[in-house]
Amino acid sequence: MVSSWTEGDVVEVHEAATDYAFSVLAESLLGSDIDAERETVRDAAASITARFDTGRLSSFLPEWIPTATNRRYRRRHDTLRETIRELVARRRAAGPPSDPASADDLLGTLLAAAEMGALNDEELVDNAVTFLFAGHETSALGLRYALYCLAGRPEIQEQIHAEVDSFDGDPTPSAVRECPVLGAAVDEALRLYPPVHSFFREPTEDVELGGYRIPEGVVLTLTPWTVHRDGRWWSDLETYQPERWLRETAEGATVRGDETRGPAVGERPEYSYFPFGGGPRHCIGMRFARQELRLATATLLQRFEFEQVTEDLSLKASANTRPDGSVRLRVRSSVQATR
Ligand code: HEM
Repeated sequence: MVSSWTEGDVVEVHEAATDYAFSVLAESLLGSDIDAERETVRDAAASITARFDTGRLSSFLPEWIPTATNRRYRRRHDTLRETIRELVARRRAAGPPSDPASADDLLGTLLAAAEMGALNDEELVDNAVTFLFAGHETSALGLRYALYCLAGRPEIQEQIHAEVDSFDGDPTPSAVRECPVLGAAVDEALRLYPPVHSFFREPTEDVELGGYRIPEGVVLTLTPWTVHRDGRWWSDLETYQPERWLRETAEGATVRGDETRGPAVGERPEYSYFPFGGGPRHCIGMRFARQELRLATATLLQRFEFEQVTEDLSLKASANTRPDGSVRLRVRSSVQATR
């Protein structure tokens, strides 16, 4: 991605971010085995997101009703499962790792766990498919929004340049952990544009919530999008402000800290910010995703600055929070472009 962009290019970040998220995930989950199967995964991804696109009435119909979306979903989903079964068979033939902790990727971990009897083969495939989809479009959208937001805040880009300039070479996981502005830039993009706008919970027993009686089994929609824009917890709701996550120390250093305008981060209720959900079923890929977004943003900002070409971001609530049209940025070589 980095080597294909040059000074002055106007880029639509979508494709690059999607390729990046796919490559990262495919390699971490399935090793490089999946490379040849990109098309299968892409087709399945498109039909799975169409099936769960809450903007379409058909997503509320049961899966067995033979709508065109449901049939495509079933067909492509079956193809993907078959592909993963083949990968599993190939790994087995090559001798899977016997210890889940010693595997190089998630498929290896799952295979070793299956050998130990912790899960059966269908559960193994279920897990691989879930990870592939839960972590693909979400991360790509997160990167897209982070770059778009940063493109509108040149001074924050400069601060991140300053942070990443101290690296000896390419960003590493431990190096990006020491960059408060970078971390705040990513977290604030996920506040303003949470890739998952809504998810669901069903109470296991009758409960009272905010004065309403909620019967057991009723589906509740929880929306990070709405809560991240609640004036009780956030000021300048529609403005991208990484500063709200930072503070200056007496010595003049910028560190992670309280919001200066509005309630302090620590005083907000825990779930006033929840782009990754919450409770025991919160996003299992949360740390992975934050790391992935910081690494990508740091790598890009080591080389480039971005300017917004698309100024008004129009969004639609699909299965995820998607841009409704292209998001175009102009690429400028940064002062450190010699790297
Ligand atoms: C910016 C990127 C991401 C966002 C915003 C995001 C957000 C979410 C949200 C909101 C949930 C539902 C949580 C809940 O019900 O409380 C979820 C679940 C999940 N996510 Fe992520 N996610 C991201 C990246 C990833 C990645 C990279 C992976 C895999 C490596 C991943 C794997 C999963 C899985 C497996 C679940 C289901 C967990 C369960 O039901 O126990 N996610 N994610």
